[in-house]
Parts: sequence; C-alpha cells; structure tokens
Amino acid sequence: MSVKIGNTELKNGIFLAPMAGVSDKSFRGLCRRFGAEYTVSEMVSAKALCYEQMSKRASTETPTASLCEVRADDGPIAIQLFGSEPEFIAEAARLIESKEYKNCVSKIAPAAIDINMGCPVRKITSNGEGSALMKDPVRAASIVEATVKATSLPVTVKIRSGWDASSINAPELAKRLEAAGAAAICVHARTKEQLYFPGIDLSVIAAVKAAVNIPVIGNGDIYCAADARKMINETGCDGVMIGRGAQGNPWIFSEILADMEGKEYTPPTLAERFEVAREHLYLMLADKGERVGLAEAKKHMAWYLAGMNGAAKARDAVMRATSAEEIVAIFNRLV
Ligand SMILES: Cc1cc2nc3c(=O)[nH]c(=O)nc-3n(C[C@H](O)[C@H](O)[C@H](O)COP(=O)(O)O)c2cc1C
Repeated sequence: MSVKIGNTELKNGIFLAPMAGVSDKSFRGLCRRFGAEYTVSEMVSAKALCYEQMSKRASTETPTASLCEVRADDGPIAIQLFGSEPEFIAEAARLIESKEYKNCVSKIAPAAIDINMGCPVRKITSNGEGSALMKDPVRAASIVEATVKATSLPVTVKIRSGWDASSINAPELAKRLEAAGAAAICVHARTKEQLYFPGIDLSVIAAVKAAVNIPVIGNGDIYCAADARKMINETGCDGVMIGRGAQGNPWIFSEILADMEGKEYTPPTLAERFEVAREHLYLMLADKGERVGLAEAKKHMAWYLAGMNGAAKARDAVMRATSAEEIVAIFNRLV
C-alpha cells in the first residue's frame, strides 16, 4: 500500500492522528521511530497564529509558534489548522510555509497543511469551526480553495462521516474538497454526534474512496494490526491513521507494519515498555520544562501502565508524583 501526498511518497501509508494535548513533538518522534510514516501536529488556531503576528507580547507568550514547529528529523509531518474564515486559514498556511511567523524555530516547511473539519468540541463548533464545517460545504470548499492559492504545500483535510446520522455527507463533501484542490482526505468514520463512542462505519470510508481520485486515509478505532487490515480490506483506503490506539502504545505502528510486510511481530517486554515510557517522560520535560512537562506527561505514563498487573495503584501513584524520578521509581518497582 503506497500513498502520495504532494511530493511525499509513503511506502506503507501509516499515519499518526493529530491529537490536541497528546501528539506533541515528543510523542510524534517516538511514533515515527516505531513505524508511523507520517504525523500530524496538534491542531493550531489559524486566527491565533495570525493575531500573534500583530501582538507585542514576548516570545514566551506566543505558544502557537511552538505548536507549528517542524524539526529537520521529523519526517513527513502536516501542520493542522482549524478555523472558519478562509482568509485566516490561508494566511496561516502562508506563514507556516514561509516560516515568516513570530518566534518560528522551524528549519524546514512541513510536508503539508491539514485542515480540521472534524473536531466535535462545542467551543470549536459553536464558532463554525471543526466539524461544523461539514454542515457548510460551500464554506469548507472555499477554505480549501483559498489555502491552496496561498501555499505551494499540499492541502489535506480531515473530516468526519457527517454531522449526525441523518446528514452523512462525507462522500459529497470529499468530492467538493477535491475539486477545490485538496491533495488527500482523511475520514474519521463517525459523525460529530457520535463524538468518540465505539463503533465506526467503514462503509462511509469506502464511499469516500469511491467518490474521489485523491488518496483517502481511513481513521477510527484501530487498536491492532487486525483492525487496520479490516479497514483496508473493507474500504480500499490508501492509508490508515491511528489515534488513541497509539496512546501508551507507539508499538502499534510496528505491529501494523509487520502485518503489512507479512513479518512476525514481537510485542515489547515490560522492561522495554518502561524504557520507552521513561524516555518519553524525559523528552517531554526537555521540551516543555519541568513543571509543564511533568504535568502533561502523567497521562501518557498512565497509558503505558494500562493492562498491567497493579496498574490502577501505580496509576494513582503516577498522578500524585512530584518529580520524574518518582515516576521512574514506580515503573522500576513493577518490572
Ligand atoms: C485527545 C484527543 C485529541 C484530539 N485532537 C484532535 C486534533 O487536534 N485534530 C483532529 O483533527 N483530530 C483530533 N482528534 C481526533 C483524532 O485525530 C481521531 O480522529 C479520533 O481519535 C479517532 O481515531 P482513533 O479511534 O484512532 O482514536 C483528537 C482525539 C483525541 C482522543
């Protein structure tokens, strides 16, 4: 299975999903090491990025710039923008490609700009952003059109099946977005109303695949190689995107890759799991500083413990920990 997005060729089509508060630089790097071929940043407010250019605030007060960082060794990565106004999204894409935004530390441009048309959070949809754009296909297409004009980077879009069960419109919307210039479409096969509840509808991904000629990436409820294989077989999608299945389990990418290549997959030992968890913890501390890094790393550390003997007690201890060393000691007691 190979996928081409702009000039980026992917051999296996294995994507890490954008997850706000989860898929930061540290996590993306680990997932990439274990086989994620393409990653997507946490969603970035196009408006915030544009407004920060006019603000007189100090560098430490422009967090959006940090979310847009692309490192030389990141591999193919898309920066995901959200918003509802074509001109802001287009301008944000231009800023990211040119690296002309305030406090930019990126040495290179991303492989693509991705536009969020799937976020179900009320704060976002009430502004006409995220999945609310699925109810406004004309605006959705004009956002893609304006962004394609503003950047030479490929513009991809992440959508859901539709707003609710009575308005499944992913295939029609995908067609419009393709006509507007989208280079690929990712479909999270749930409606906005379904939020993240279990149960996806693979037939919607298949219908999108049948409707467009650009690559279609399938997304939703992939927790093992068999789930990925089922999605590919039943929908004909060109790639698979994994979100929650990678939380505390970046090895899921190795498992899917091994399956695609017909190779045996050996899950990590407990010691290997904890070694990667420890590395993840210190990467986050280095990237975000001790206080924020520790606070944000705790949920990841709890995910690494999932399913283990004594996990509940260890998870409580992790949540109460006041230092990285304390967390490492909790892991060491379990090995
Ligand atoms: C904590 C969390 C944060 C998310 N943030 C984003 C985001 O910033 N942009 C986006 O397009 N989707 C976001 N999503 C949705 C995921 O990218 C993905 O579509 C969804 O989780 C379904 O895939 P999964 O079943 O593999 O998790 C988020 C999901 C979760 C659980």
